[in-house]
Formats: sequence, C-alpha cells, structure tokens
Amino acid sequence: MTEFLWGASTSPHQIEGNNLNSDWWEREQRFPEMFERSGDALDSYHRYREDIGLLADAGLNAYRFGIEWARIEPEEGQFSKAELAHYRRMIDATLERGMTPVVTLHHFTNPRWFADDGGWRDPRAIDRFCRYVEAAATILADVEWVVTVNEPNVYALMSLMDNTMSEEGRAAMADLSVDDLLRAQAAAIPDTELGDILADAHRAAKVILKSATSARVGWTVAGQAFEPTPGNEDEFARVKDAWEDRYLRVSKGDDFVGVQSYTSQKIDSRGVIPHAPHPDNTLTGWAYRPDALGIALRNAWNVTEGTPILITENGIATNDDARRIAYTSEALEHMFAAQVDGLDVRGYLHWSALDNFEWGHWAPTFGLIAVDRTTFERTPKPSLAWLGDIARSGRA
Ligand code: FCB
Repeated sequence: MTEFLWGASTSPHQIEGNNLNSDWWEREQRFPEMFERSGDALDSYHRYREDIGLLADAGLNAYRFGIEWARIEPEEGQFSKAELAHYRRMIDATLERGMTPVVTLHHFTNPRWFADDGGWRDPRAIDRFCRYVEAAATILADVEWVVTVNEPNVYALMSLMDNTMSEEGRAAMADLSVDDLLRAQAAAIPDTELGDILADAHRAAKVILKSATSARVGWTVAGQAFEPTPGNEDEFARVKDAWEDRYLRVSKGDDFVGVQSYTSQKIDSRGVIPHAPHPDNTLTGWAYRPDALGIALRNAWNVTEGTPILITENGIATNDDARRIAYTSEALEHMFAAQVDGLDVRGYLHWSALDNFEWGHWAPTFGLIAVDRTTFERTPKPSLAWLGDIARSGRA
C-alpha cells in the first residue's frame, strides 16, 4: 500500500511567469480590460526549489505541478530539450525532498500556434497533443502519478470564454446584463463535442504513457456537487450528466480519477442557479460549501464504479487564513467519512500551494503561501503548517 498523498497543487501558467508562447498570455495582452496580466507571475519558473522546499519543510509529501506544452513546443514540431530538462529538474527537486510528484500535462493552456491553428477542434489536434505527450514521456519514466488533462469539463465550457478572443463574441457579451451573463454562463453546458475530443486525447495520451512510463494515469474532473431544487430532478440529472458524469465515465477503469471540488450549486428548471450574493461567499463569489468535497467524492466513486480517487484540488479563495483552515478542516472530515464508507481515496492535494494568478485575476487568493509580487518573497501562512501537521499525523 503506497503512502497517502498529502500535498498541494499548482499549474504552470498560474505560477511560472512569462509564459510567452501560450494562448493565455496572448489573451491577457489582447484584452487587458477583461483580464489582469500574469506577467512575471510568482517567478516559480526560477524559484521552484524554494516552493518545493517550503512544502516539504511543512511536512507535505506530495506536490502537483504541471509541465507547460507552450514552453516544450514553442513552435510546431520544435521541441526544446532545455525546457524538458528544466521540468526534469523540477521532478528531481521534488523527489530529492522526499516528495511524490504528481505531474499534469495540460492545465487549460495551449501553445499559441496550436490555438491559432484551430485549437482542439482542428482535426490534427490529437496527433499534435500525442507528439507532445511522447516528448513529455521522456522525462516521466519514474513519475508515479500523471494527469493527462485538467478539468476537461471546465475547459469544454471555455468555448464561451473563447468568444473573448473575437470582436464578435465580445460584442454579443456586451449586450447582456451581469445577471444575464451569469445565467448564460451557469446555463452553459460544457461543449459535448469538445469534451469528446478531450476524452479521445486523454485515452491516446494514456496509451503512450502506459508504454513509456510506469505512471498511474488519469485525468481530473471538476466536481460540481450539484443539488436539485424540489420538482427539478430531471433537469438536475441532465445538467449533472452533461457537466460531470460524462467526464467521470471516461475514468472508468483508469488507474485513478482526480476529483476537484470547491463549492456546490443548486439546479432549477432553467439549469444551474448562479451563486446568490452572500456575506459568506468566498473571494471567487462561490458559496462557502466545504461539504461539497464529500458530495463530489461520492458522485465520482458511484459514476466511475470504483475508480481510485486522488483529490487533486480543494481549497478556498480567502484573505482570512483562519477561514482557510476551517474550510479545509471541514472538507477533510467529509473525506474521512467517505473513506469510512469504503471509498478508495489515495491522497489530498490542496489548491493551492501559493497565492497565484487565478486566470485573469490576482485578487482571489487560494494559497497556503503568500507571495510578494515585487520581491517574490514567499511567506508561509499558518494553514501550511496546519496542513503539514495533518500530513505528519495522518489525521485532522
Ligand atoms: C480549478 C482550476 C485551477 C484553479 C482552481 C481555483 O478550476 O483547475 O487552475 O483555477 O479552479
């Protein structure tokens, strides 16, 4: 039985800085009125040893981070050996500190050339992704946990967000009231066609990784913890399937499924009800629902028919670290209860290690570690030591 993983998660674009060849970088430059810029981010591209050291010193035994396709293949077919070596050094730095690396291959960002060329809908997309996965596999031989695609169900919703890339899409959005926009976003269902493409990409990547590495391979799904309002069970079933279950079914028979959970939302006859303003809402405007983790875990376990679970993200955007501890402590109680009920949960990776770039916004702080974005000085918060103590003792 391998050790339970207690760790923290990050993604490359959110922490590294100067991810110049990615489509997200381009989006930030083109629409500064909509998105803050990632810029230097946290300079973790250079400071990863310090980040890893802080997590290890606190007592955590796992670190989830991603490798950035846009750096490894900045132009089509031009693979950078130096960037692959960089990510191998990150893996080694994690191992040297006695921690288990969990490596993500795709976390929302694409190389610019890939996006400009039609992105995932282009018929060449999966072959292109596979070429990248083959290159990545050369540094992953001894990595035990690999995530192919992060939150395909959220990515598949981004076809709405992709509209921000065209003047036409932005004009259509400008005519909507904030309420309409929230409703439209909530009612939007992840694009099935895009979801199916990502599922094919996951399966193809799995074949490559299984032959080239000894890794456990899975993808991660954003658990929505949807709840029906009375009389709306049919709509609930429809939305839950479209948003979540069709992605979980892809994980049936996989080595693991990554479950990511933050909040819960109710469904009425018009679909997902946007979070109502409430003083307890978090800095992302989400309802404070630490119990969502239990709901997401149980749904993943049922739908995948018993695929082992790795909690790859769970956390809260708050300026109040005591609240982070309270939220996480309650979420962990729900995890322990699920384990008592027989769910096979292999680890808990908190989102996030650091206060990072939250996809166009710097205000929602999810980190166990604060970062001064001028000096890049890291300051661990009490929640890091608190989670580290749980990691050491195995119990909250
Ligand atoms: C998830 C993303 C992660 C972060 C958290 C808050 O959807 O995977 O990058 O943005 O939400």
